Amino acid sequence: MEPLVLGIESTCDETGVALVRGRELVGEAVASSMDEHTRFGGIVPEVASRAHLEEMIPALQAALASAEERLEDVDAVAVAVGPGLVGSLTVGAAAAKALALALRVPFYGVNHVVGHIAVDELVHGPFPERFIALIVSGGHSSLLRVDDIATSVVELGHTLDDAAGEAFDKVGRLLGLPYPGGPHVDRLARSGARDAIDFPRGLSSPKDLERHPYDFSFSGLKTAVARWLEAYSDSGKNVPREDVAASFAAAVADVLVDKTLRACSEHGIQTLVIGGGFSANSQLRTLAADRCGEAGIEVRIPPVRFCTDNGAMIATLGSAAIRSGVPPSDLDAGVDSAMSLSRVVA
Ligand code: KG4
Ligand code: ZN
Repeated sequence: MEPLVLGIESTCDETGVALVRGRELVGEAVASSMDEHTRFGGIVPEVASRAHLEEMIPALQAALASAEERLEDVDAVAVAVGPGLVGSLTVGAAAAKALALALRVPFYGVNHVVGHIAVDELVHGPFPERFIALIVSGGHSSLLRVDDIATSVVELGHTLDDAAGEAFDKVGRLLGLPYPGGPHVDRLARSGARDAIDFPRGLSSPKDLERHPYDFSFSGLKTAVARWLEAYSDSGKNVPREDVAASFAAAVADVLVDKTLRACSEHGIQTLVIGGGFSANSQLRTLAADRCGEAGIEVRIPPVRFCTDNGAMIATLGSAAIRSGVPPSDLDAGVDSAMSLSRVVA
């Protein structure tokens, strides 16, 4: 039987704890402090750290109860040690180290962003030998080439400014929607016309593609939306919010999917895995399914509950590291708020 891995996630506002055996989820619990941040219009790191401290043990107990397992039966402990908010990461890492020490089991400090991809194995089974991964969230927009999820991850490109989810949240604010605006903009966009307004596609001119084939930039797009809204408000007419949302969402999805398919084609890869909180976005899901279908590329996207931050993604990556024979991390390993995506285990 494969080892029972306890995974802890505390990089931002979710406190997630889960138990995974091999590629199977045995139990999990997630608590979120998002309600405490909403009124500030963004995550307050200090508030998030305190919430992790309060939620960690209850989440652990709830995960064990849902798994019907005892703490003593845990064979290894994995925790996200970066990238993320330093205070939040520290609470999770301290809890994981204490548990590993008390239980006398190996400790794995793993990469949160790579976990967003690893979790797909719980749903769609073992990964193929090579694949391209697109990770999109409030903090990240990155393209990876993955030869082995635990040992060989190469970052092909990333956003030079805002992440996709961050751009949606900012446009949500411009449209007067509550924080986080991403899901609200998605909903509005569904009843608008994607080609109503011709918003710019960042880093997509031939010259930009030469220098930044796999990088993204969304801040110019956000500014273009702001300028368009300013100009329109001078006209005194009601803003067509659905069309603005749909045209903006189309610009984001077009660039993400174009560059991802370019990576698949240039690397001769037939499988794409999409992960991260923004992969809940319906414009991205639809376009990726259509364009991958045309190109004969298999696209794997985990269900939404595994796309937002959770403990299962960390436990699954810990489990993959053990399967690949990666040595455990030292108990004096630190946290790394800017952890490189090619560093899967600390
Ligand atoms: O991965 P995640 O849960 O947290 C981070 O690690 O950032 O991603 C949350 C981000 C937020 O910016 C949120 O607004 C965005 O993903 N998001 C969406 C949708 N669902 C979540 N953006 C657009 N459409 C959605 N359906
Ligand atoms: Zn995340």
